[in-house]
Amino acid sequence: MCGIVGYIGDKDATPIILEGLKKLEYRGYDSAGIAVLKDGKIDIRRDSGKISHLEALVEANPLKGSPGIGHTRWATHGEPNERNSHPHVGYKGQVVIVHNGIVENYLELRDELISEGIQFNSDTDTETIVHMIEIYLEQEMDLEEAVRSTLKRIKGAHGIVVLSTKEPEKIISARIGNAGGVVIGLGEGENYIASDIPAILEHTNRMVFLDSHQMAVLQKDKLVLKTLDGKPLDHKVETINLDPVSAVKGNYRHFMQKEIHEQVRSLTETLAGRIDFNHHSIVIPTLNIDKIDFEKLKGIKIIACGTAGHAGQVGKFMIENIAKIPVEVDIASEFRYRDPLVDENQIVLAISQSGETADTLAAMEEGRKKGAHIWSIVNAIGSQAMRLAEGFISMQAGPEIGVASTKAFTAPLVDLYLLAVLLADKKGLLSDGEIWEHIVEISKIPDLVGTCLDREDQVRAIAGKYKDTEHMLYLGRGINMPIAYEGALKLKEISYIHAEAYPAGEMKHGPIALIDKAMPVLAVMPKDKWYEKMLSQVEQAKARGGKVIIVATDGDEQAANLADDVLWIPSAGWMVNPILAVIPLQILAYHIAAMRGLDVDQPRNLAKSVTVE
Ligand code: F6R
Repeated sequence: MCGIVGYIGDKDATPIILEGLKKLEYRGYDSAGIAVLKDGKIDIRRDSGKISHLEALVEANPLKGSPGIGHTRWATHGEPNERNSHPHVGYKGQVVIVHNGIVENYLELRDELISEGIQFNSDTDTETIVHMIEIYLEQEMDLEEAVRSTLKRIKGAHGIVVLSTKEPEKIISARIGNAGGVVIGLGEGENYIASDIPAILEHTNRMVFLDSHQMAVLQKDKLVLKTLDGKPLDHKVETINLDPVSAVKGNYRHFMQKEIHEQVRSLTETLAGRIDFNHHSIVIPTLNIDKIDFEKLKGIKIIACGTAGHAGQVGKFMIENIAKIPVEVDIASEFRYRDPLVDENQIVLAISQSGETADTLAAMEEGRKKGAHIWSIVNAIGSQAMRLAEGFISMQAGPEIGVASTKAFTAPLVDLYLLAVLLADKKGLLSDGEIWEHIVEISKIPDLVGTCLDREDQVRAIAGKYKDTEHMLYLGRGINMPIAYEGALKLKEISYIHAEAYPAGEMKHGPIALIDKAMPVLAVMPKDKWYEKMLSQVEQAKARGGKVIIVATDGDEQAANLADDVLWIPSAGWMVNPILAVIPLQILAYHIAAMRGLDVDQPRNLAKSVTVE
């Protein structure tokens, strides 16, 4: 987690870093800080709280200079107060650091440093790193060597950025493992560094991504990339075609609301270039699908966390139904430690918005070790999940800033639908006409999603009725069961209402005991092959006094008669239904949280990229 920004050049680093940090605040918002070099000295402002608080600090007590580094924190070691905020300075006051990751052996290192007489000023693991760099500097090493020697001693995954008064013309950064990305932005006579592209995209779109075990030595007009053993490396400059404006809130009250409304555009982008209307086929060159021997392919393991996992569960229905390939969906944090049965005749498919989720990356690595083909569906361009995969599908959803994932849920649903058709085509299972029918269904999705979004006012009115509930039970069946899970997750994470989801058929095996007047039941039941079953289960809930909200297909009178409130979606094929059904659930959760006056984009205890275990 945590966000890092750095700048070196002739401008004042402070405003550049503050603006960059605001775009990374989704990565953590427990505390924030900034350090610049000025007249051979390190100047720092930092405190607990959000970037707006840091901005106020800087306004009250300005700091100016270059180079500079900044940090927004998701606390691991040490509570989120001023003394634990980054940047941290070494005991000699010569080195300052921002850090993303966990020093796994920090207790041992801390004891060692204390025994050498070094005093700690924080409870963080990060402070061990900066003191060690200073110790090595004292031993006549230059900054690069000192950083390298320090990194050899710390365990865990890390991204760091370092400045020193001894070599003020440099910023040094290094990455070990998957503690979040490090991207370098190349400007004219100035250079940038950040955890993620949006932080620096308004300054440059020429970027270099740091891989694990690489170090960048950045000067205002020069970038040198090295291994952690000091061997020079060539670097590839990538041009990022992202729109910097999409990382700005615009007229919306929250990023989440903006991102919900972006889904017509994001899904259009997701489809862009992937359907060959002339030849009736799906085209995803980045997947490298020709490496798969379909004669031998035994199955696909989808691995993901949270919302991405719910997308995977919907994908299972699509792939098994269309491509007839067995699919298992696994929670990445479970898969990685279960010694799963995976081999070279299987595909491990990771789904991740950030592409930096530690558990998902570790599960990919587990699959790779066992010889499986590794694929990913990923949103963040240049992220590890994109780079580590043998084949990938880029979600093309654009930056997602709100911590609760919305557009990065629907994009992989569409990708999985495309993938299912592509796989079936490769296996020769579909006639030209059948492929065309799917293409027609898929092409309608953005417009249908637009229809759902146009109904925001109706959903908002329903949100007003349920905003004070303490509990909510979500039910679904078949391909819509994961949508019930996703709806419940959206509600609980941003409104702090206790929300649970169950496959509706499981109700009678226990959970039905929960239902009374205080437990509204939300049933996801568009007209599909599970509809009749859902109907009888919702009737059972209704008979026990619960208020019932139904996500129903336009014109469904039975649902209208049964429900206290209806969230209407347009009529569509059963594989498109989940993509539509989730839209009113996103809007409902959003408005309930907003009406409760909560911090929708930055809910408590959460961060956007979960780069720690
Ligand atoms: C919930 C949410 C999380 C993420 C999960 C995985 O709204 O956003 O559950 O889906 O942390 O993150 P990624 O997709 O970045 O791997």
